[in-house]
Amino acid sequence: MSSIQDIKIIELPRINDPRGNLSFLEQKNHIPFEIKRTYWIYDVPGGEARGGHAFKQNQEFIVAISGAFDVIVDDGTQKKKFTLNRSYYGLYVPAGLWREMENFSTNSMALEFGSLHYDVHDYIRDYNEFLKLKSNGEI
Ligand code: TYD
Repeated sequence: MSSIQDIKIIELPRINDPRGNLSFLEQKNHIPFEIKRTYWIYDVPGGEARGGHAFKQNQEFIVAISGAFDVIVDDGTQKKKFTLNRSYYGLYVPAGLWREMENFSTNSMALEFGSLHYDVHDYIRDYNEFLKLKSNGEI
């Protein structure tokens, strides 16, 4: 069962160069899982929020590849807000945590890596159900 303590900000390698900087990540090296899926969120209108769910199995790594936004993670007992605003670090979110994303700056882009292929059955979209599964120790 994961908790807020299992969430990690991971700093990625940075190759600074007068021609422009470069960062990268390798699965099971810089992030602790094999990547099965990559997706990105962009063109978020001002004031909109994303997320609002938990995954039963999927782990994620979230990078603000451009701009800034907040990720609020909740383990059913505690909530913590992480502001992502650099393309060379990201947030590792283990499975079984409720998360929301908000406060997107203009033209920001969230790049997300997942440990599983998309599976609608891996989502928990009802917060009360999340709390129930969490208190039963099922996630
Ligand atoms: P969702 O995961 O709810 O977005 P977010 O958590 O970022 O707000 O996904 C929104 C929609 O996109 C939903 O209908 C499912 C679809 N989707 C896919 O088809 N494949 C994917 O890999 C993802 C992440 C979402």
